[in-house]
Amino acid sequence: MAQNPYLRIERGAPGTIGWRIHYFEEIDSTQNFARELAANDAAEGTVVIAEKQSAGRGRMGRTWHSPSGVNLYATIILRPTISLAEVSKLSLVAGVAAAEALEREAVGIVALKWPNDIWLRGRKAGGIIAEALSDSHQQLSSVLLGIGININLTVDDLPAELRDKATSLRIATGHACDRIAIAESLFSLLDSRYRETLSGGFESVRAAWERYSALTGKRVSILDGGLRKTGVVKGIDVDGALLLDIGENVERIVAGEVSVEGAYDDM
Ligand code: BTN
Repeated sequence: MAQNPYLRIERGAPGTIGWRIHYFEEIDSTQNFARELAANDAAEGTVVIAEKQSAGRGRMGRTWHSPSGVNLYATIILRPTISLAEVSKLSLVAGVAAAEALEREAVGIVALKWPNDIWLRGRKAGGIIAEALSDSHQQLSSVLLGIGININLTVDDLPAELRDKATSLRIATGHACDRIAIAESLFSLLDSRYRETLSGGFESVRAAWERYSALTGKRVSILDGGLRKTGVVKGIDVDGALLLDIGENVERIVAGEVSVEGAYDDM
């Protein structure tokens, strides 16, 4: 069994994010192992980390490029008492924690692209996926919050089709970073932001999300269930929906249903 370098950042009692960290040199997807743990009653805050994923999953059925030994691939098991409809807000909360953790290494170049992309200098450096598990009564039993952050990935690690879209902390800052220290900041910040959301609602984290918003004030084109909508982004609302001013009215675009394209050139 591989030695777990993340052992030294395990912290707190069961329930705290990062209290227990399962580590793999290689796995299909950290989401899959976390799903098994969750089904076997793993406590909230349990984390699964892998050096490499052979079948990393992104949003909307995409794959997540997961080369070995350079990035952070983590899934966190949460057990919030919220409705299924509210789960997408947790990925926005995780976005804030990820942006805050990266900001410590990359001041002024971190942004969030709604709903779940983490950007450095206008290119994607990370993403978040929130998978909900429900019980036999269709009640939410747990959320598998998957976070992928490109940390020490170099341009050579990227396949040709991602080279003009993706980046990493190392590419954006010019220096290698300590992945374990970043994971430690991320889990600690996420623990605080998550608890803030549970006690004060998403509204308490919304302002922090807006500070990192890459799209607010920009004209964008959105594919919403097959329908193209163009307008100026006004921000996000209390439910985490994107507010798009299309001229005659402001439309709410719900997380998880859309892809946003174009118009980010001046980031
Ligand atoms: C996206 O931007 O599409 C979301 C990407 C989420 C990737 C992470 S890496 C850790 C966890 N395991 C997976 O298979 N996916 C998530």
